[in-house]
Amino acid sequence: MRILIVYDSFYGNTKLVADAIGDSFDEEEVEVLNVIDVDIKSLKKIDLLIVGSPTRQFKPTDYIEDFLNNIPSNYLNGIKVMAFDTRLSKVEMMSGILKLFAKKFEYAAEPIGNKLVSKGGKLICNPEGFFVKSNKGPLHEGEIERASAWAENAVDDSI
Ligand SMILES: Cc1cc2nc3c(=O)[nH]c(=O)nc-3n(C[C@H](O)[C@H](O)[C@H](O)COP(=O)(O)O)c2cc1C
Repeated sequence: MRILIVYDSFYGNTKLVADAIGDSFDEEEVEVLNVIDVDIKSLKKIDLLIVGSPTRQFKPTDYIEDFLNNIPSNYLNGIKVMAFDTRLSKVEMMSGILKLFAKKFEYAAEPIGNKLVSKGGKLICNPEGFFVKSNKGPLHEGEIERASAWAENAVDDSI
């Protein structure tokens, strides 16, 4: 199975999750790329696309949104897709400046998953979030391992 993992990351936490997911698979079948380095045409050569973003103001980053919007209609037909984000827990968000804007609590993973499906992708598991302790991280203990297990289980179940 050829797997492409696309991520954006300001402080490195989402990259850590993307790399950990990548390490769960055979080196020859997986590529992990920053979103700005992705050529849309390369999506035609893969079997599974995994997209991850930090949650910023209740949604994915602009780079991830642009990447998703630039995928032509039906381009992901026949391709399996998964979506993840990194995020603060509600408790940690409410203790910070974000409480000023917290009219609604939404995260990046679900809209990423919806967009991938709207382009023809087949979502093979529920979008998932991995928790950081503060804006700059670090990730909570166990989140790297949880991310690896999330991806491995989804791929095993989809075969
Ligand atoms: C400007 C800004 C907005 C943020 N908005 C949210 C948010 O809406 N929800 C949330 O859970 N975390 C929010 N965060 C925390 C980010 O999710 C956190 O910085 C991110 O997971 C770290 O990932 P990265 O190291 O890959 O950038 C925000 C952080 C910043 C700096």
